[in-house]
Amino acid sequence: MELFKRTAFCGEISQSLVDKEIFLSGWVQGRRDLGGLIFIDLRDRTGIMQLVFNPEKNKELTEKAHTLRSEFVISVRGTVTQRSPEAINKKVATGEYELVVLDLSIVSTSPTPPFEINDDTNASEELRLKYRYLDLRRPKIHKYLKTRHEIIFAIRDYLNKQEFYEIETPILSKSTPEGARDFLVPSRLQPGSFYALPQSPQLYKQLLMSAGMEKYFQVARCFRDEDFRANRQPEFTQLDLEMSFVHEEDIQDVAEGIIAAVWKKVFGSNPSIQFSSHQDASKITRDEREVNGRSSRVPGVASGGAGCIEGSFPRMKYDEAFARFGTDKPDTRFGLEIQDLSELFKNTDIKFLKKVLDNSGKIGAISVSGKSFSRSELSSLEAQAKEHFGASGLLWVKFDEHGKPVSTVAKFLPEDFFVQARQLVPTLKPTDTLFFVADDYKKAWTALGRLRVELAKKLDLIDESKFNFLWVTDFPLLEWHEEDKRWYATHHPFTMPHADWEKREPGEIRSRAYDLVCNGEELGGGSIRVHDSSMQKKIFEFLGISNEEAEDKFGFFLEAQKYGFPPHGGIALGLDRLVMLIAKTDSIRDVIAFPKTGNGVCLMTQSPSGVDKKQLKELGL
Ligand code: AMO
Repeated sequence: MELFKRTAFCGEISQSLVDKEIFLSGWVQGRRDLGGLIFIDLRDRTGIMQLVFNPEKNKELTEKAHTLRSEFVISVRGTVTQRSPEAINKKVATGEYELVVLDLSIVSTSPTPPFEINDDTNASEELRLKYRYLDLRRPKIHKYLKTRHEIIFAIRDYLNKQEFYEIETPILSKSTPEGARDFLVPSRLQPGSFYALPQSPQLYKQLLMSAGMEKYFQVARCFRDEDFRANRQPEFTQLDLEMSFVHEEDIQDVAEGIIAAVWKKVFGSNPSIQFSSHQDASKITRDEREVNGRSSRVPGVASGGAGCIEGSFPRMKYDEAFARFGTDKPDTRFGLEIQDLSELFKNTDIKFLKKVLDNSGKIGAISVSGKSFSRSELSSLEAQAKEHFGASGLLWVKFDEHGKPVSTVAKFLPEDFFVQARQLVPTLKPTDTLFFVADDYKKAWTALGRLRVELAKKLDLIDESKFNFLWVTDFPLLEWHEEDKRWYATHHPFTMPHADWEKREPGEIRSRAYDLVCNGEELGGGSIRVHDSSMQKKIFEFLGISNEEAEDKFGFFLEAQKYGFPPHGGIALGLDRLVMLIAKTDSIRDVIAFPKTGNGVCLMTQSPSGVDKKQLKELGL
């Protein structure tokens, strides 16, 4: 059971250690018995090293090695030797060497694990999450968590140099305004009262600005009881920050500086890759940024190859993003932009299209070149659009090599349909296909936005090596919810509207809010905040929040607004999503040490779980 003092790590054995005696410790990855010799793959967090036991050199030791099983923890002393050329394993970093073992200590044993600990395991996610501590032994997940550490470290280092204070805010707190459901914690000392777990540190960080902290950040755990998807967890981590006496650009510059620092840390400074530091980025003026953006592949959108963050990120207003991409988080690695072709059908006889236009709806389209869709492909896209993208229908028109339309509605289209269409879509060519969705603007464009991504995947148009960042700005301040027929804050009720807000209809008010988007994923969001209590009052009125309700929910905050509240703004980046993006994995669960399932369950600890009656009684429940 003796644990030898380790002098080297498995993955770091190199030429300089050949013929040297070293000590290694780790887990038995696997054992092979070959003609009396025993080979063990020893694993530690740096990699794998092959150990050899030779019965001719040490019979007793080799017999002991016979008892080794997967996941035993062992400690060994041995001599590093160069393998003969035919024995070299090119798949392993240390495949040129092996350790001829001179001493072995079995530190702890293990039953056969429920699944093999390797990257290509085909164990179900359920089983892996139940034994997450074993799952975490897999090199891939190790790498994800290492990357996560490096990212957080780079962010802390960068923000420290920018003179931010890292300040923790309470977990047992009061309901915050992010709009999801709260997780509640009953209070024993105040029976009948509840704490809410923070959906974000939003109000606290604003109060820290009131307190004169000026530059705050936090690696903050947030809790939201919402429906989970591949990129959402009930508890997740934000890199949250706030600054006083700033404009949008100051905050965006810091966020860009963070991304540049993270990219530098993770991808290194490969000379073939261009990096733009925060300082470089901030030297570029707004006009130059827009020019840079325009010269890139998708107008208004900069793109970079792997690890490449060129200049500062382009900005696009929400209205433009939605009109071109049908979403507020466009994936700009490919084109297939949405076109408004309502005009093309203004005199149409096609009844359902006419009805949409008569009801002030719109007809949007995506044109696809270089692919001849079969009937079955078209019908499966139509079914998908209806079932999954919220479209009431998907109309397609293919053009043959003479520009003649082929479609279920071909006989209702005018002779010169191709010529008319080309006037609106100048790039349209014979053999192209147009996909149309007709509905109210929001619904049609949202469906087309989803179809756009699906088409790009099907046509293999997405360059996975790219990270295309962009700022989406000027969001609508308010969002109409048809179910309860009222306005809600698009972000939260402390978001500053543009100066002309009082002259606009509620749905037309734009805010000083911005989201950071990368490859179709919302990485972060923030805004300039309201710091004037009379403006805040009016916004609550718009939201139908009564004085009493505002007082009850945010009274402490409204009070603080009266005491010399500085102008301020901030942002929160979804750290898990950032790690996920860099790690190029498609599940947020991969980059969180102990994640929950889609139903919010931790399969390892079996939480949430029942509690004793006594505990409930103490809590007055
Ligand atoms: P917001 O609600 O946009 O803003 O959240 C900021 C970022 O946090 C990430 N995120 C999530 N990640 C994983 N699981 C979830 N359930 C989840 N929900 C959000 C996203 C998102 O962009 N207080 C404001 C920020 C501010 O205004 O400063 C806020 O929380 O990447």
